[in-house]
Parts: sequence; C-alpha cells; structure tokens
Amino acid sequence: MTGGVRGTFEGSLAKWGFRVQVVVIGAGYLGTTHAACMAQIGHSVLGIDISEEKVAKLQSGEVPFFEPGLEALLREHVASGRLRFSTSFEEAAAFGDVHFLAVGTPQSTRGRAGDVSCVNAAIDSLSPHLARPTVIAGKSTVPVGTARRLAERVQAAAPAREAVEVAWNPEFLREGFAVEGTLRPDRIVVGAGDRPEGRAIELLREVYSLILAEGVPFLVTDLETAELVKVAANAFLATKVGFINAIAELCEAAGADVAMLADAIGRDERIGRQYLNAGLGFGGGCLPKDIRALVARAEELGVGDAFAFLREVDNGNMRQRSRVVDISREICGSLIGTNVAILGAAFKPDTDDVRDSPALSVAGQLQLQGANVSIYDPKAMDNARKTMPTLDYAVTSLDACRGADIVLVLTEWKEFQNIQPGDLGAVTQTKNIVDARNCLDSRQWRAAGWTYRGLGRS
Ligand code: UGA
Repeated sequence: MTGGVRGTFEGSLAKWGFRVQVVVIGAGYLGTTHAACMAQIGHSVLGIDISEEKVAKLQSGEVPFFEPGLEALLREHVASGRLRFSTSFEEAAAFGDVHFLAVGTPQSTRGRAGDVSCVNAAIDSLSPHLARPTVIAGKSTVPVGTARRLAERVQAAAPAREAVEVAWNPEFLREGFAVEGTLRPDRIVVGAGDRPEGRAIELLREVYSLILAEGVPFLVTDLETAELVKVAANAFLATKVGFINAIAELCEAAGADVAMLADAIGRDERIGRQYLNAGLGFGGGCLPKDIRALVARAEELGVGDAFAFLREVDNGNMRQRSRVVDISREICGSLIGTNVAILGAAFKPDTDDVRDSPALSVAGQLQLQGANVSIYDPKAMDNARKTMPTLDYAVTSLDACRGADIVLVLTEWKEFQNIQPGDLGAVTQTKNIVDARNCLDSRQWRAAGWTYRGLGRS
C-alpha cells in the first residue's frame, strides 16, 4: 500500500531535500499515524506522549494497536532516525518548528459534549517552554471555538508570546486506511487566525508540500470553519448511514432490497454509493461522539433546534442494535438459554478497535437477556475481552459457532464472507443466520438450507 506512495515521495524528496522539525503531541491512533507519515514525507519528527510505557513501545518499533501498514512505517523511520518519541515537553518546545496537537477528545463522562481536558493539559505542559516562534496546529476534533481560546491560553503562558501561532488542521483519517488516508488525503484543511503577519499557512504548506505536489487541494479557512469542517463531515456521514438504515426498515416492511436500492440511488453522483451500506449502523470512537458533541455545542450556541434530526440519527442508530436482538429473539422464539454465536467484535473490519462497537453492544444485550454468547473476531479479541469479560471468547469462527442455535455476523470481515455455508452448518445446532452487515450472498446461504435474515433485504 505505501510502496507506491513511498516511490513518489522519495523521488521528490531527493529533488527538494527540505526538512521541517515536526512535533506530534499525543501518540494514540491519530498521533502515531501522523508522526510516522510526517517522517515518511521527509521531516524530522518527535512524537510526544505522557505515557512512558507507550513511548518506550513506539521507540522500539511496536504499535500498540492494529492498523494496516503503520508498524512497518514506524519501524522504518525509527530505524532511519527521522522519527523518535519522548515524554519531554521541554524537548518538544526546543525542537518543534510546528507542533501538531493530536490528543484524544472523548465524549465527556457527564453529558454529550466533547471533553477537551487532554487538549488543555497538552497546551499547559508545552506553553511555558515555548521560547521561539512556532506554530501549534491542532488536529484533534474539538468543539468550535476551542482554537481561539487555546491561542489566548498559549500566548499568555509562552515566553515567545504572540510569536506562537495557533492553527487548526483537522484530520479525516479512517481506521483501517489511516496511513493511506494521511499520505493521500482528499483535501488538507487549515484554519488560521487573522494576524496578517502570521506564518502558519506558509509553514503548513511547506510541511505538506510533497502531498500537495500530488494535486491534493489545500483549503485555507478561519479557525472556526476548520474546526467545524471535521464535525460537519462526520455528522453528514452519520446521517447518510442513518438515512439508508431507515430506508432498510421500509424495504423490509415492503419486501424490497436495500442493497439493490443503494446501488441504484448511488449512481446519482449527487448521492454517491459510498457510505450507503445498511446494517447494524455506525459505531467507533468518532462518529457517535462527534455528532453528540456537535449537538451539544449547537445548543450552547443557541441553535440546538436545527439539529433535532441529528439526535434522531443517533437514536435511530442505537435502534439498529436493538432490532438485531429482536430479530434473533423472533427467529429463536426465546433468548433464554439460546446458544448465540457472534462473528465480529470490532466496530468495523480491519481494525481491533471496539470503542462503541455495535457488535459488542448486541453481544452484551443478548447476554443480559439470557442467551449464551460465544464470540470471535480476527483482531479485536483482546480489546473485546477487556471491555466485556463475561462473554465466551472462541479461538476461531467455527469454534464460536459450535452448537449454536443462531449465528450473527456483526462485523463484515473478509474472513466471515469466505465461510462456506456447508462448513458452518456442520458445526451449528440449527441453520439460522442473521447477516447484520448485509455482507453475505443470501442466495448461497438459503440454497444451503439456512434461514437467512439480512437487514433491509427481502
Ligand atoms: C470516521 C470517518 O469516516 C473519518 O472520515 C473520520 O476522520 C473519522 O471517523 C474520525 O473522526 O477520526 P472511522 O470511525 O474510522 O472514520 O470509520 P468509518 O469507516 O467512517 O465507519 C464508521 C462506522 O460507520 C462503522 O461502524 C461502520 O461500520 C459504519 N458504516 C460505515 C456503516 O454502517 N455503513 C456505511 O455505509 C459506512
């Protein structure tokens, strides 16, 4: 995957031979990917995290989560010396021409707003050491208005005062495609303050010059627009999934097929086929918390009424999870003592992330309603076990399905799509399958004697 990208960039690097000293604060999903990709496009990179353990792991070339292509990139650039990690904000301040802020902004433990305490803490740790002109470029997803507030906070505490600029440069990476998405983004958005002498835009153009040379659009906005672009994009995507899931329910009631319908409406370029896969709905660490934070911020700004639809998107999305539980009960008659096999624990394929995973949510609901739940996922078993230790964790998909009264496919891993109905039928008690991601060939399963239920498919 990165081979093609590397080929292109190495050629340009040799030609231009520049290097910016880049600091990336926060070595989680976003920060680690960004740091490795900044090294890949030729910069000297220092990754900062408050966890000694995480820093030691990354410095030894180990990525503490699963993301295709990332570990190879990390190892290559730690070995080349272009990328290193530290816990020292003093070192970061002395090193960085630009500081990317990539710490987490989870949903607040009370209420729906975004929790920016890690962003504040990072700024407070860095600011007192900032003695030279520099740019802080926020990447984290924050409530609109945060960047302007942070600029005041940093300038009050930094010895360099106004020579420290704050810009916002939201990330749009998708898990499972993080490296490719960072090196070949659809667009780069940079919001900057209104100081005429500001150099943030110029510096970020330089940082991204190799990517821009490939024709990627560079959109310059004000700070507030850049902050909102990210949450608006996620809210739109969530709404698209919510819409197709509502249509799926209608298809089911009317005897139509939502997958065929999505193919047909997706041909209209104004609609587009992507993000129209009906099923169990969206989860993960981003979409659910971002739409809630958007609604919460809109309410604070007095325009909450305009987002009633987004609250309904959220509710409808949660309803999908209950629907799958209801369908399972309907097929089996009762859930009490029923052996349920669940294929998939991650919130989507090609990741080990189980944050707000629809699959785990269904597994938990079924267990709480009396079912015996056995679950398998190709990558997310450790994370799932930590989140829901009471489920029965199988070592293979067939193992999970042994003796099952019903099989639920809740994450569309390729591995599950390749399972043969005959092989599965040989180990289950009864041939009932719920394809909650509409990823199986219904005709093949029905032909093999299975009771097949998709979501929104007749
Ligand atoms: C999402 C956005 O796609 C990224 O652009 C954004 O940068 C990122 O959040 C973020 O805020 O950092 P991600 O959470 O990695 O990325 O995953 P997606 O591929 O968007 O999937 C989100 C959820 O929607 C998954 O549970 C997936 O199964 C579900 N989904 C997606 C559907 O149910 N149907 C679809 O057609 C597409």
